[in-house]
Amino acid sequence: MKMLLFLLLLGIVGPHCTSARTHSLKYFYTASSGVPNFPEFVGVGLVDEVEMTHYDSNTRREEPKQDWMNNITDEVPQYWEGETQNSLGNQQGYKVDIETLKQRFNQTGG
Ligand SMILES: *[C@@H]1O[C@H](CO)[C@@H](O)[C@H](O)[C@H]1NC(C)=O
Ligand SMILES: *[C@@H]1O[C@H](CO)[C@@H](O)[C@H](O)[C@H]1NC(C)=O
Repeated sequence: MKMLLFLLLLGIVGPHCTSARTHSLKYFYTASSGVPNFPEFVGVGLVDEVEMTHYDSNTRREEPKQDWMNNITDEVPQYWEGETQNSLGNQQGYKVDIETLKQRFNQTGG
């Protein structure tokens, strides 16, 4: 509760603070079926539009794309194993979604 209140205060005070900078954290997931030379699932994490993590269904590994992201294992040794498991789960979920969409749109090919 204290944490929530603190975050709320940050949200209220933040925009008025002249030294505040806005950063972005984005994840893009791409699922496809039958596209030649393209993995069925790709997950990319970006901070301020810079790719920091990458996963695809060929490597089946979540991997760092920046040195500073690599160092996270100093604090969280199991970080990449955990992220890989999350991405494997996303890959399976999106694969089911693609199959559902193919059926609904009578798409027999890729
Ligand atoms: C990452 O770790 C390496 C090796 O310990 C260190 O030399 C480097 O400064 C670290 N980079 C960052 C951004 O913390
Ligand atoms: C898919 O095929 C079924 C059976 O022919 C048809 O009823 C349905 O409208 C089709 N759906 C689309 C999105 O074309």
